[in-house]
Amino acid sequence: MKKLTILPVIAIIAIATLMFPACSKKASSNPTPVGTTLYDSLGGTTLVADPTHAGAMIEKGRLGIRNVIDSTIFVIAADSRINGHFTVLLSEVTKGDLSGFTDLSENLTTFVAGATGAKNFIYIGLNMHDAHDPSVNNRMNGKATSADFDAFVSDLATGAGKNKLPANLLNSVAKIVESLRSQVVQM
Ligand code: HEM
Repeated sequence: MKKLTILPVIAIIAIATLMFPACSKKASSNPTPVGTTLYDSLGGTTLVADPTHAGAMIEKGRLGIRNVIDSTIFVIAADSRINGHFTVLLSEVTKGDLSGFTDLSENLTTFVAGATGAKNFIYIGLNMHDAHDPSVNNRMNGKATSADFDAFVSDLATGAGKNKLPANLLNSVAKIVESLRSQVVQM
């Protein structure tokens, strides 16, 4: 698969840093108390001001997940091991079109929130097999290998680290992600 040049990577980081200041915001370093679900442990349903949408409120758990997801997308964009799968997204961003980035951020956040026990969001995106089947989702450039999946998991850990997600919570999220490997890897 063709590797991407550094230009779209710089573009996505520059534009997204301007539009999504929360991505660089650090969460509290205090470990979050364990709740009844993983989503509770990640912040739960307590409403807080949404740092990227003036005047809007957002569940603390969703905000924490979104911060990790957005950081992870930036890490992936710069990761030549797997950024070649994201050519559609990165070429849009290079042209200043962030609609695909916003949709992916929302979809991934809602998916992970639901998988961790959030009750107030409904994931309406593609199922995990179809989302990663290039014959169904033309935004997926080529099927992912198991090595690609490993790179994705390591980028997720880097994204989590940028937001100071406690190791025990990262491990719990990683278990959910691992359970999806056979749906994402289709070769
Ligand atoms: C368990 C791990 C993963 C999860 C939970 C996940 C989740 C998702 C979700 C929710 C979407 C959006 C679907 C939609 O738009 O309806 C998506 C899209 C996508 N995923 Fe994954 N994914 C995972 C692993 C991977 C891996 C390993 C790769 C390749 C290295 C990959 C590449 C993509 C691409 C290229 C898209 C389309 C992005 C776009 O909209 O431009 N994903 N994924």
